[in-house]
Amino acid sequence: MPSPIHIRPAEPPDAQAIADVQTASWRTTYAGLMPDEFLVSIDVNRRAEVWHTWLTDSSRRYCFFVAEDADGQVVGFASGGPERDGHPVYKGELSAIYILEAYHGQGIGRRLVQAVVEWLIEHHYHNMLIWVLGTNKIGIGFYEALGGQRVGSKNTEIGGETLEEIAYGWLDITPLLPP
Ligand SMILES: CC(C)(COP(=O)(O)OP(=O)(O)OC[C@H]1O[C@@H](n2cnc3c(N)ncnc32)[C@H](O)[C@@H]1OP(=O)(O)O)[C@@H](O)C(=O)NCCC(=O)NCCS
Repeated sequence: MPSPIHIRPAEPPDAQAIADVQTASWRTTYAGLMPDEFLVSIDVNRRAEVWHTWLTDSSRRYCFFVAEDADGQVVGFASGGPERDGHPVYKGELSAIYILEAYHGQGIGRRLVQAVVEWLIEHHYHNMLIWVLGTNKIGIGFYEALGGQRVGSKNTEIGGETLEEIAYGWLDITPLLPP
């Protein structure tokens, strides 16, 4: 039986743990999907510095949540806020969600999405999109299971390669709230 997982807002001291999860999850999720050199070159300490900057940003324009196990170990995180490209329809965005591989399939992703959606609704956003790598079958399966509709695509350069990203959108995010 998996240990209980607690979802809570991220705090500045979580920066290193989030960077660790992000780096580990990027390397497992994107192995074979992004250039190896790019994945190897991720600087986890630099990532932690960036996370610390975000988590100490007093503007509160974005939200950050972590999932931690009974020992207080961060096993996943998610972030959200205003949509970043000026989309005419979708005003809210789920900007990142990453969970350590050993913790997939336990409902943690859904709970992290619920936390972001609650924050978005409190901040007057009623719809949301996310961008997912076109070859990320796990991410796509998850967003489709949550009712997301494919609403766009774009090319992005990552590690010197041009990769396709797909947008999934929810015109109404209230069905994503906890029952
Ligand atoms: C995508 C991710 C966040 C999903 O989190 P998770 O905790 O494994 O998902 P959950 O257990 O909460 O699943 C919620 C629902 O989605 C479904 N689901 C999850 N992943 C799925 C998949 N790959 N294909 C189909 N359905 C999926 C589950 O069956 C569940 O449905 P149910 O509630 O009807 O039973 C997690 O797998 C992850 O971190 N992956 C690597 C990083 C990643 O790809 N992030 C997205 C980047 S854009």
